Amino acid sequence: MIEEKIYILGIESSCDDTAASVLCNGKVLSNVIANQSIHEAYGGVVPELASRAHQQNIVPVVDQALKKAGISKNDLSAVAFTRGPGLMGSLLVGTSFAKSLAYGLDIPLIEVNHMQAHILAHFIEKEGYKKPAFPFLAMTISGGHTQIVRVDGAFQMTVIGETIDDAVGEAFDKSGKILGLGYPAGPQIDKRAKLGNPKAFHFTKPKVDGLNFSFSGLKTAILYFVRDHSKENPNFIAEHLDDICASIQYTIVGILMDKLKAAVKDTGINRIAIGGGVSANSGIRTALKNAEQKHGWETFIPAFEFTTDNAAMIAIVGYLKYLKKDFAMQNTMATARLKI
Ligand code: KG4
Ligand code: ZN
Repeated sequence: MIEEKIYILGIESSCDDTAASVLCNGKVLSNVIANQSIHEAYGGVVPELASRAHQQNIVPVVDQALKKAGISKNDLSAVAFTRGPGLMGSLLVGTSFAKSLAYGLDIPLIEVNHMQAHILAHFIEKEGYKKPAFPFLAMTISGGHTQIVRVDGAFQMTVIGETIDDAVGEAFDKSGKILGLGYPAGPQIDKRAKLGNPKAFHFTKPKVDGLNFSFSGLKTAILYFVRDHSKENPNFIAEHLDDICASIQYTIVGILMDKLKAAVKDTGINRIAIGGGVSANSGIRTALKNAEQKHGWETFIPAFEFTTDNAAMIAIVGYLKYLKKDFAMQNTMATARLKI
């Protein structure tokens, strides 16, 4: 019997990346991302500029994704898109485009929750990567979110902990801004941290109940720390940048690992998957690998290309929903605050 080929086009436009990807039966044929460099000058994402850039990018990005996949739009089985959560103006671009394309081709439309997609990215077929068995715990760490989710099935997810203020990616980015690093600062702090001493400076970890997180206090502590030291020595940042970055990263990774350990204790589940932009961080990757040895955890770390925002993760959710015939209606609306 010849296996039926299900081609899913995924479209992601929730923040500042316009992305499109084609999957065939869960395998990536193309994964195209247009980053918006315009925000660098502002030190953060400017929503109005993001939606305008999405409008410019969406057609060429989808066109490239189809070309790289070596298929025509008429071969598509369905179109999946990010419905939320995210920036409203940005979400509207992907949503309207996906709706029109599915309508024009007369194929199913599939709505995807961006945070579910960061978790289900682990189900993309990729050599050398295994898929987590249910139940597992997922920690989604990005520029907009920080959650620990109990995953009992592909679409059975319960948030058991989340940030009460800033997301962990914001903690990286805002600390970097204080240090004069460009946006987004997370990858730069990671790079510098490799050259520094993680115990050079001590930052107090916040005390937050249960499995919730807080990062706004750390940001303020870093601001005062830098201000006070710079008063004594105007070159303090330049002279100690690697050590400061290593110490910040060490503190943040410590906060994440403490909560993961508590979550494992509470649930009795020791299969841990991470997702979201911050899961590219080398500190958290190493800490998780060490926990395999130290605590007997089974850990799942996504390939780099599926950590930061991408459309392959939207397309894999599209594929899983396609198999269940879980289709969206044409009147589906982009939703900025969409819960898992
Ligand atoms: O998932 P993502 O691409 O977009 C959101 O949905 O937010 O995550 C972006 C975040 C940014 O805050 C960025 O600084 C952070 O991920 N990030 C990192 C690293 N790579 C990206 N943070 C720390 N270390 C990294 N290597
Ligand atoms: Zn994301």
